[in-house]
Amino acid sequence: MIPDITDAPNAVELETIRGDIVFDHVGFHYNPNRPILKDVSFTIHAGDHVGLVGHTGSGKSTIANLITRMYDVISGSISIDGHNVKEIKVETLRRNIAIVSQEIYLFRGTIAENIRYARPDATMEEVIDAARAANAHDFIMRLPEGYETLIGIGSRSLSGGERQRISIARALLMKPSLLILDEATAAMDTETERLISDAIEKLIKGRTTITIAHRLSTLKDCNYLMAIEHGEIAEQGTAEELMEKKGVYYKLYTLQSEQMKKVMAGL
Ligand SMILES: Nc1ncnc2c1ncn2[C@@H]1O[C@H](COP(=O)(O)OP(=O)(O)OP(=O)(O)O)[C@@H](O)[C@H]1O
Ligand SMILES: [Mg+2]
Repeated sequence: MIPDITDAPNAVELETIRGDIVFDHVGFHYNPNRPILKDVSFTIHAGDHVGLVGHTGSGKSTIANLITRMYDVISGSISIDGHNVKEIKVETLRRNIAIVSQEIYLFRGTIAENIRYARPDATMEEVIDAARAANAHDFIMRLPEGYETLIGIGSRSLSGGERQRISIARALLMKPSLLILDEATAAMDTETERLISDAIEKLIKGRTTITIAHRLSTLKDCNYLMAIEHGEIAEQGTAEELMEKKGVYYKLYTLQSEQMKKVMAGL
């Protein structure tokens, strides 16, 4: 399915966005006989660092897709800074919201062009600075044609960790007001993981951020957490509040710390 989202005739263009996001009874499905989000309501305040957890397939990445309007809601509404997203120019959203994930969209073009994606006017120097900060410069320079290497459909493919660092470089260059980090499920070696988390730390500073995570340790810096289950936000609050609730988050936490103990004990 190719998303086909266009601007409403009265769509507004915003120079920047602050990042106040409101989901109001949002319902969504990709396929009518399989509802994904049933009744999702939450508020994110500009400057927040929100963590989103939930089982695989619960709809976390879908929430990110709706904020960036890759798809439109079926029922309810989403607003950003008080404007319904359907009434904000798609270009405004693309320019101000960055998603960092392994499933980043790479088009057929050079690495440099792919990093420049949201800022076509960026100079080569800016591209390289962003790639350095994203810890991507070294692997790019090891490719036969460096920044001029062709990637995307039908040409050289990159590993998940490499794609993710390209997406971090792209986001650093873009200086988005809203950042969505969609953590990879695939395991990465410790060194790559460290390179990525260092780069992400630079990226998060001073931005409204939504972090989608499987490993709860990724969420240690979030000031607010939400747990999604059965198409709804089952719990929200600070990590301490959710621990006290002994619900979804608590279960995930206990499970993960038990696994961790086993790893530490070499079992
Ligand atoms: N483009 C699509 N077309 C049809 N179904 C889709 C599409 N994208 C996702 N889905 C389905 O919607 C559900 C929610 O997917 P989503 O990617 O939002 O889950 P998630 O919570 O991000 O999972 P994970 O933790 O594995 O990343 C899944 O069952 C998935 O198979
Ligand atoms: Mg996902």
